[in-house]
Amino acid sequence: MSCRAVIFDLDGVLTDTAIYHFRAWKALADELGIAFTEHDNEQLKGVDRLGSLRWILQQGGLTLSEAEEARLMQQKNAHYLELIAHMTAADLYPGVQPLFAQLRQSGTKIGLASASKNAAFVVERLGIAAQFDYIADANQVINSKPDPEVFLLAANGLGVAPQHCIGVEDALAGIEAINRAGMKAIGIGDAKVLSGALKVYPDVAAITLTNLLKL
Ligand code: G6P
Ligand code: MG
Repeated sequence: MSCRAVIFDLDGVLTDTAIYHFRAWKALADELGIAFTEHDNEQLKGVDRLGSLRWILQQGGLTLSEAEEARLMQQKNAHYLELIAHMTAADLYPGVQPLFAQLRQSGTKIGLASASKNAAFVVERLGIAAQFDYIADANQVINSKPDPEVFLLAANGLGVAPQHCIGVEDALAGIEAINRAGMKAIGIGDAKVLSGALKVYPDVAAITLTNLLKL
């Protein structure tokens, strides 16, 4: 396969925002009297905002109106934005900059496919916004991962056919989205969990251009 583009997920791949999502959801769950642990938060990785809220409400046996759901999502997001406002380039995972440099040098395009509506803000805080040839996020798609829409949008924006793209993801739903998009999937995390990926690495620092080209 000739790899012409690598499309990265953001949360859990390029930086660790899970702790901030957890704190913001936890504050909301406490207010609603619903138990919510860091272990529960694992279930929400890669899951969009509404899906996450509904998962938490379900734990408490609550069904709310759409207006009430919208109010709670707004409340959680305002808290989350306060927490991530303090992020800096130091929050970028080690290995991201060297890998981006290798990709750029080889003429491989760099894309982002994120389920977060805050993706543009986060990459700005991390100081890497200008390094992406195209950014696709939850503001531009209708269907969330595991639907392939956000990866296909990124490939289209990059002008590269899906079969020449590699996707990098830490969530199971994301790996499924990459596979359904007809791209090659690389997992970040545990190989037993991310069984749909062609190759799994513990972190981005373990990925090199050479092993990407071998896929
Ligand atoms: C990513 C995270 C999820 C989060 C989702 C939506 O996929 O892994 O935990 O719920 O983005 O994020 P947002 O910033 O739009 O609320
Ligand atoms: Mg992720």
